[in-house]
Formats: sequence, structure tokens, C-alpha cells
Amino acid sequence: MELRNIAIVGAGVMGSGIAQVSAMSGYSVTLTDVSASQLDKAKRFINGGLGKLVQKGKLTPEKVDSILAQIKMNDRLDESVRDADLVVEAAFENLDLKQKIFKDLEKYCKSAAILGSNTSALPITEIASVTKSGNRLIGIHFMNPVPLMKGVEVIQGQLTSNETVETTLGYVRSLGKEPIIAIDYAGFIVSRLLDVLMNEVVKMVQEGNKPEDIDRAMELCAGHPMGPCKLLDLVGAEIAMHGMETMERDFGERYKPHPLLKKRVLAGLLGKKTGQGFYKYE
Ligand SMILES: NC(=O)c1ccc[n+]([C@@H]2O[C@H](COP(=O)([O-])OP(=O)(O)OC[C@H]3O[C@@H](n4cnc5c(N)ncnc54)[C@H](O)[C@@H]3O)[C@@H](O)[C@H]2O)c1
Repeated sequence: MELRNIAIVGAGVMGSGIAQVSAMSGYSVTLTDVSASQLDKAKRFINGGLGKLVQKGKLTPEKVDSILAQIKMNDRLDESVRDADLVVEAAFENLDLKQKIFKDLEKYCKSAAILGSNTSALPITEIASVTKSGNRLIGIHFMNPVPLMKGVEVIQGQLTSNETVETTLGYVRSLGKEPIIAIDYAGFIVSRLLDVLMNEVVKMVQEGNKPEDIDRAMELCAGHPMGPCKLLDLVGAEIAMHGMETMERDFGERYKPHPLLKKRVLAGLLGKKTGQGFYKYE
């Protein structure tokens, strides 16, 4: 199946990045969000991202204009996804919300369109269970920051057809990224391991360790490119908390989110998104 039009649902950190890399690879992109102000923010975010590539000599200013012209912003879901050959949903990490979005996508999309979710941890089969489109519903788990991270997990739900998988692998490769097949259990591969690490650092900070020391230890002693406190700030504390909750529900107690992680989410200390997590951001 040939892909030309990509629709992204949810214009937050991930949706903006997925829109940017899709447009850079020549796709016609529609980015939609329930919040019009979020669409403005996404526009600034994508402009900024492309501007950095110009500064590094990786893009010409003319190319930036043509990439931006390929991204349409629209706060109406029905209009945004009507012509899409492939949709990537990147709304909040909440099962009920995602199920509702996919029921709407079934109504508004072409019957052959691939329906992808960028969920970090929710099983694809569970999202698909309220739809009649399990054969074309698939996990396409991009990593943050999308323009920089090379790997993308692709998750085949119980009903996802092999054709959907093949087309999705082609889409991921066309973005210059490498797909990795992950089995459809809560957290897949990456969140199942990283959420546990990020939950643990919350306990370690409560025990008295400084975030700077934890990060330096893991960068200098374990060779991690980014320490886990910086990583939690980048990902967003709420994303890690929801991931842990999904895994606790499916695998039990050992994935319980630490009470302090929940408290930090309630207090709005999400990280870069809110300007403060373990560290402060402009
Ligand atoms: N942040 C990360 O590092 C990361 C990495 C990989 C995957 N993810 C996953 O990607 C998804 C998005 O995460 P994010 O960090 O970009 O979140 P975010 O909070 O930055 O953005 C989510 C956006 O979804 C929008 N939204 C909410 N309901 C909507 C609806 N019904 N229709 C359209 N838009 C709607 C919100 O207005 C918001 O702009 C989540 O499922 C998350 O688990 C996040």
C-alpha cells in the first residue's frame, strides 16, 4: 500500500515531532489537537526544530519553507483524518481516551487507512478491543525527541494483519528510522525497562540522593547517554506513572508506581513540559 497522507492526532511533544519527521520525508501531514493553542505551540516547536537543523547546515531555509507547507494544522478530527493513509495517535496516555479516539477514527478514516498508536505502554489489542478494526490497528512507538531518536518500536496486536505490519515497517524506514518489533504486552520493550528505572530514581531521591549525582553516576559509570532524572524530565513524569500503572495492572505489585512519583505528577512537576521536574527549564 502506498502512503502519501499522514495524520497525527495530538500535537504535544510527540505528535509535533512525528509531524516534523513525516513532513521531512516528503509526506503530506495533517496535525490535529483538541486544543487550538496547542496547535500554535506545535507550529513554534516544529519551526524551532527545523531552525536548529538549518543552523547545523543540515537543511536549507528554502527546504524549511517547503516542509512547513506540507504540514496542515486543524482542530477538527473528522477533517484532519479524512484523506489519511496512515494515522498516528499521540494523545494523552489514557486507555479510555485512546479507545474513544480509535472509535472516531473508524468513523472518519478511509476503510484501508492504517491506524497507529504511539502509546508508551497500553497493549494494542486492548485499545483495539472496542473497535472492529483490529486488523489495521498497530503500535508505532516513537521515542523522544522524535527527530533525533533512531529506533521505533512496532507492536503487532492480536488481530493486526501482516500487511499492516509490513506497510508500517516501510513507513518507519522511510523516515530514516529503524523499526524494532516488540511483543504486545504492557510497556512493550522500552517502557517496560525504562519506566522501572525512572520509578526507582524517585525513591532514591527521596532517600537523599541528589538528582545530579544519580545522573552523573549513570552517565559516567554505566555509560548511559542521559541520566535517569534527566530522562524522566524529558519523557514527562505522568508518562512514566501511567506506564507503571498499566504494567502494575497486568503484571502485579513489582511495577507499582512510587507514591512520590504520583505526588510529583499531581503537583505538576512533569519535567520539561511544565518547566520543572528534577531540574528547572526555561
Ligand atoms: N513524552 C514521551 O517521551 C513519550 C515517548 C513515547 C511515547 N509517548 C506517548 O505519546 C503520547 C503523547 O505523549 P506526549 O508526551 O506527546 O503528550 P503531551 O501531553 O505533550 O501531548 C498530548 C496532546 O494530546 C492532545 N489531546 C488530548 N486529547 C485529544 C483528543 N481527543 N484529540 C486530539 N488531541 C488530543 C492534548 O491536547 C495534547 O496536546 C502518549 O501516549 C505517550 O505515552 C510519549
